[in-house]
Amino acid sequence: MIRYSRVIGTGGYLPEEIRTNEQISRTVDTSDSWIFERTGIKSRRIAAPHETSSSMAEIAARQALAAGACDPEDIDIIIVATGTPDRVYPSTACLLQQRLGIKNCVAFDVQAACSGSIFALSIADQYIKSGAAKKVLVVGSELCSRIVDWTDRSTCILFGDGAGALLLAVSAETGILSTHIHSDGEYEDLLYCPNPQVAATLHEQQQAGYISMRGSEVFKVAVNTLERIVDETLDANNMDKSEIDWLVPHQANIRIIAATAKKLKMSMDQVVVTLETQGNTSSASVLLAFNEAVRDGRIQRGQVVLLEAFGAGFTWGSALIRY
Ligand code: ACO
Repeated sequence: MIRYSRVIGTGGYLPEEIRTNEQISRTVDTSDSWIFERTGIKSRRIAAPHETSSSMAEIAARQALAAGACDPEDIDIIIVATGTPDRVYPSTACLLQQRLGIKNCVAFDVQAACSGSIFALSIADQYIKSGAAKKVLVVGSELCSRIVDWTDRSTCILFGDGAGALLLAVSAETGILSTHIHSDGEYEDLLYCPNPQVAATLHEQQQAGYISMRGSEVFKVAVNTLERIVDETLDANNMDKSEIDWLVPHQANIRIIAATAKKLKMSMDQVVVTLETQGNTSSASVLLAFNEAVRDGRIQRGQVVLLEAFGAGFTWGSALIRY
């Protein structure tokens, strides 16, 4: 029997506080028009002090479980993608497992920066396809607001907080058609976030755990790399661009998203964009966008959806799904 990983439920959570470009422009030298024109972002959500990646993950996960009519006890594996874990250890996935009250499943985190959800999806798919798991919960949860330096205008305008979740179940019908993941550590200096307590250099210790990014250099690599992964994904499935119904991209910059859509000859109407009100929620962004478009009825059963992401590492990846 051919086994596919089928999406049976999705969920999402966004914190209550909305922080607008206008509010940020009161504390750093920037403007709403600069931010919107260069990034496509107008506002982002900021978690309350009591919120953590695991608390946000729980809300998104419970939604996905409800949508899939799934008893938490039936989950075989929980994979959480996050760059902002509650603790160094245990993993955020273990904390989520405890929150969901699940006793007998495997839970672990994946760290691939903004590509984390695609990496997690790819791992989940391998376990399901091989017959080693029947139901896997994939979550991306991020508190980006806690690792940006709010005095650095080149990064603080970009990021937001939130969590997205997706529940996969084994199916004889189609589901995930293929996943493709890549890494290249050569670019580690262009985008990173030091852990000050374990950083080996004084310079990194002084950066106090904040994101450091050479934005325009990251931008160029991201556009080229995402163009390549579109070709790789289509070739692997013997598919033509015209067969893709929806693009669900990582939400880093509207100009990067538009370049990928152009490569696919897709109208922006076929692209799920949440960036304007959410900013870049790192590993949560693709799952949040997917959840939104499923829940508002844009993505329909049977349609072909291309998910893609690019992030620190560099890491990048795609997943082609027949929903
Ligand atoms: N407001 C006003 N001016 C600004 C701001 C700001 N917020 N930020 C930078 N500038 C200035 C710069 O100082 C520079 O001024 P100069 O010309 O006098 O030197 C000018 O604007 C242009 O700066 P660039 O960095 O070249 O601007 P760019 O058009 O590249 O936009 C941005 C910057 C939005 C960060 C863009 O490069 C980008 O989106 N990069 C990719 C981000 C990304 O994809 N990251 C990967 C995922 S994230 C992850 O993995 C965690």
